[in-house]
Amino acid sequence: MLKERVLKALNDQINAEQYSALMYLSMSAWFEDKGLPGFANWMYVQYQEELTHANKIFKFVVERNSKAELKAIEQMPVEFNSLLEVVEKTLAHEQHVTELINNIVDVATEERDHATQSFLQWFVDEQVEEEANVSEILDSLRLIEGDAKGNGLFMLDRELRQRTFVDTTQPV
Ligand code: FEO
Repeated sequence: MLKERVLKALNDQINAEQYSALMYLSMSAWFEDKGLPGFANWMYVQYQEELTHANKIFKFVVERNSKAELKAIEQMPVEFNSLLEVVEKTLAHEQHVTELINNIVDVATEERDHATQSFLQWFVDEQVEEEANVSEILDSLRLIEGDAKGNGLFMLDRELRQRTFVDTTQPV
């Protein structure tokens, strides 16, 4: 059984990952509406990944003979002022998720829950990759900023169209 504090933190994180999923789905819809299918695809894959993160924590809680509790998901943003704003919000959100994961590691450490600490290491590593991936897109976008309606954006959108969903929570 998980200790109460650890269980609460993990249940909160299931909710945070589900929120992330729906926020990215909402961003995907926004990109579709703006005629950017590559960005929409990238966000849709991000949505799929976030669901696997939520499910990975859900399964861990259940395996530890504890009760996973689902909560209402806060309304996610549906309108954005610009393409740059969406990607900036994505990076800020991933930085926030990194903080949340680090906080749960702290709680698990304080409670001397080594199994949860070990489980969370996957998320610690995943967040490094998540932040790096978004930063890369943001850097590319800033580079082509002056050319926001031109060839650079077209090329970047085409590149983001290549992203495919791989369930990285499963062993290969
Ligand atoms: Fe599940 Fe993007 O953090």
